[in-house]
Amino acid sequence: MYQKQGGRCRSQPPTAPDRRVDTPAEASSPLSSHGARLADGVNGAESALQMYNTMMETVVYLDNNATTRVLPEVVEAMLPFLREEYANPSSVHQFGQFIRHQMECARGQVARLIGAQPREIVFTSGGTESINLAIRGSLDIHPTRRHVLTTAVEHPAGLRVTEQLKARGYEVDYVAVDREGRIDEEEWSARLTDRTALATFIHANNETGVVFDVERMARAAFERQIPVHVDAAQSAGKLAIDVSSWPVTLVSLAAHKFHGPKGVGALYVRRRTRLTPQILGGGQEGERRGGTENAAGIIGMGAAAEAAMRDREQITQQVGAMRDLLESEVLRLVPFAQVNGLGADRIYNTSNISFAGLEAEAILILLSEAGICASSGAACSSGSLEPSHVLQAMGIDEKIAHGAIRFSLSRFNTREEIDSVVETLPGLLSKLTALT
Ligand SMILES: Cc1ncc(COP(=O)(O)O)c(C=O)c1O
Repeated sequence: MYQKQGGRCRSQPPTAPDRRVDTPAEASSPLSSHGARLADGVNGAESALQMYNTMMETVVYLDNNATTRVLPEVVEAMLPFLREEYANPSSVHQFGQFIRHQMECARGQVARLIGAQPREIVFTSGGTESINLAIRGSLDIHPTRRHVLTTAVEHPAGLRVTEQLKARGYEVDYVAVDREGRIDEEEWSARLTDRTALATFIHANNETGVVFDVERMARAAFERQIPVHVDAAQSAGKLAIDVSSWPVTLVSLAAHKFHGPKGVGALYVRRRTRLTPQILGGGQEGERRGGTENAAGIIGMGAAAEAAMRDREQITQQVGAMRDLLESEVLRLVPFAQVNGLGADRIYNTSNISFAGLEAEAILILLSEAGICASSGAACSSGSLEPSHVLQAMGIDEKIAHGAIRFSLSRFNTREEIDSVVETLPGLLSKLTALT
């Protein structure tokens, strides 16, 4: 008979950041380590694992705005729900209800991360789905209104949706930013009209790290009962967010940006907000998002939220100091470098640096050969030769925008890694300059 009781939420012991994965021989039990799982059932698994460890020891991963490494304690929290705790959380039997209980604990953890009530959290498949649900789902609040207010520097997850709305007859205002990526909040608020159905904007920019002032941008719309959506995919888990004091209606989060798993996210929906579900099915998530929940992912997101709350202040100091060092050293050593958004309020982990006259793609390839992972703008638009729409919106000259590299750091980076990037980068840029 299945005997698990709901009981208390599982809590995980704090784990020191460690990038290495145990080999099976080193693992305390063959089923208790992430490394052992990696090795299971794979031919030559031990050597593959050694290669992986060697790679992880040498790679400098500075692409954390694309995604972050899952914390070991998050993996541990998830594993039972990928193995023996497999019931459907909607099932009425005890087995299902145990999963339901753990999922509700995770809902509480994610709610606490942003100062929400648990019932205001809807789990989704990630940032993109949350944003789609927020924008499309809130248009029925004022069904006759046909104006949407947004900015010129949104992530494609928001941009593509508003572009589609525009194609369907909505009037969409893409409010411009200045040279540093800042928005003029007065100009923004002046664009609100009696026909505005929704105001939607990004909190921390994924490319430049520039942070918008939510209070100043959201207040006027919120007071006029216009729903306000904030894309906090890059800020949740890194910056302090308190929706109980923010004048906002909807906030999108993505677990994999703060050391949780990929494919899971959440949408904060303020109490008593009418939201039209976009995925219809069973009545999951309070009828707001149909489909059997990704229980393991949700529980992982809860554990990642817990770790983010616990470590936020320390990580902010530690990672911020490394980012500042990287920037000041690159600016000192490379006379043609410029930091995009330097004059704006920025999130502590992101640095977008342009190397005038060089192509980002070429720089990224040489960096990758040197074991350094970075990115040019948004990960999903890498490979395109179009300069980033964010840098274009900032009025940055095309030649400078073409050579923009995004370095994004996390708690797993070390001072030694930053030193090695600072040592490697100038020589690599000289090589490229000599070729052009
Ligand atoms: C600001 C921002 N919004 C939304 C997303 C999309 O999130 P996801 O990858 O979880 O769909 C991202 C991911 O890069 C992002 O940086």
